Amino acid sequence: MDQPLYEQVAQQIEKQILAGTFLPNTRIPSLRKSSKQFNVSIATVMQAFSLLEDRGLIKARPQKGYFVQSHQPNSDAAQITPKKYDGHMHRLLNQLLHASQDKNIAPFGAAIPYSDFLPIKQLQRSVVRLMRADPEICSSYEFTPGSLELRRQIAIRMLDTGCRLQADDITITLGCQNAIMLALQATTQPGDTIAIESPAYHGVLQAIEVLHLKAIEIPCSEDTGIDLQQLEQAAQQWPIKACIVTPNNQNPTGATLSSHARQHLLNIASRHDIALIEDDVYGELGYQEQREAALKANDHEGRVLYCSSFSKSIAPGFRVGWIVGGRYQDKIEHYAYVQSLAIPTVTQTAIAHFLEHGAYDRHLRKTRQRYQANLARCQTLVLDAFPDGTRVSHPSGGCLLWVTLPDAVDAMQLYQQAMAQKIGLLPGLAFSLSNQFSHHLRLNYAVLWDQKNLQALSDLGSLVHALQNDVLTDNDIYQHSPT
Ligand SMILES: Cc1ncc(COP(=O)(O)O)c(C=O)c1O
Repeated sequence: MDQPLYEQVAQQIEKQILAGTFLPNTRIPSLRKSSKQFNVSIATVMQAFSLLEDRGLIKARPQKGYFVQSHQPNSDAAQITPKKYDGHMHRLLNQLLHASQDKNIAPFGAAIPYSDFLPIKQLQRSVVRLMRADPEICSSYEFTPGSLELRRQIAIRMLDTGCRLQADDITITLGCQNAIMLALQATTQPGDTIAIESPAYHGVLQAIEVLHLKAIEIPCSEDTGIDLQQLEQAAQQWPIKACIVTPNNQNPTGATLSSHARQHLLNIASRHDIALIEDDVYGELGYQEQREAALKANDHEGRVLYCSSFSKSIAPGFRVGWIVGGRYQDKIEHYAYVQSLAIPTVTQTAIAHFLEHGAYDRHLRKTRQRYQANLARCQTLVLDAFPDGTRVSHPSGGCLLWVTLPDAVDAMQLYQQAMAQKIGLLPGLAFSLSNQFSHHLRLNYAVLWDQKNLQALSDLGSLVHALQNDVLTDNDIYQHSPT
């Protein structure tokens, strides 16, 4: 189908901007002139300009005309190419996940909250009561799409995200990771290209490898999230089938997309026919009063697949998540059924019970306050213990801090030395397909600030100092050695 005239005009101007014909902060031809140049009406040019404004490429200056925005995609953008994941982090991630079960290792590595921050006692009572009341609960299958009661409770909770759903729109999954896998399987074929955030949650990178996909890494800033200008540019260049985004409290940057950016993202997806996989696993853990509407809430085309779980707020070990698959729902249900047949009955029922009796909201309020206080503490501790030049992120929620180390410090080396001292962390390399973020690390701050963990963070700071000094000394020797 032909694109509307205004879209064609917008694309031509966009190409000129991206090619540098129109430089940042310069005026583009006026409405009247453009209407003559493109041989279209002024109304059509106005629509095209408004589209370009929407895409962040130009901005109107009162009485002066339209100017090219100074924030242009950097020259790397043109080199963005689909990549495969070579699995370089499998061993490290495996080591890290096992380390998270070792009580002797300081728990800054995996994104797993300290157990006292989870409502374990309430769940324990619930499970015991359920088993007593209905021992059959262990011998019956809860077939896909999962417990009706739980799906009803999730539909009710999702009203807070702006989504009006029926229980039948929802499939229960084995955590959010399973939901993401199902979403990718339903929207792609092996060999397809998808877009991901960069840095991205490592579970997404591993899914890409297993499903034989290629991915384009779209930069994700700590403040504003995924770079939509670069996403649009990539979509013009490559046939992107799906895009995975974490609009709330992204892992690892902590960024949250504004409502304007969310609408812009939906528009891009619609223009380029991209399925949007919305990973909202940290959605309930935002520190702001009001959470932004989910992408799913404004999805009028059924192209958003909403994925989440209770792993970060109730019980990671229960492995209860869910997916709202939109137009892919039937496919997803079928795949979920074939892959796992059913989801454990006891855990679903216990969570449904917890949600139904209002305990969840109380628990969440407490958890958000606790995590926010922990964040402030973690930021201060890192900035005090690490050398000058270290930067920390300012996450809008969740439990993860993204740390930028001074350039001289290699995070992979730090990781190895830290593990030798029984301090967990995740190096930046784990978040990229292309060996980026070698001076970054991610810390889980949903930890207990007891003496042991305080000491571990201080020791980590000493390691960073030592690594920096080693490199500086090496440089010094190198510069002063005879050639
Ligand atoms: C962004 C993100 N998505 C998905 C997951 C997987 O969640 P689950 O444990 O529910 O499978 C995680 C886990 O850390 C995550 O950080």
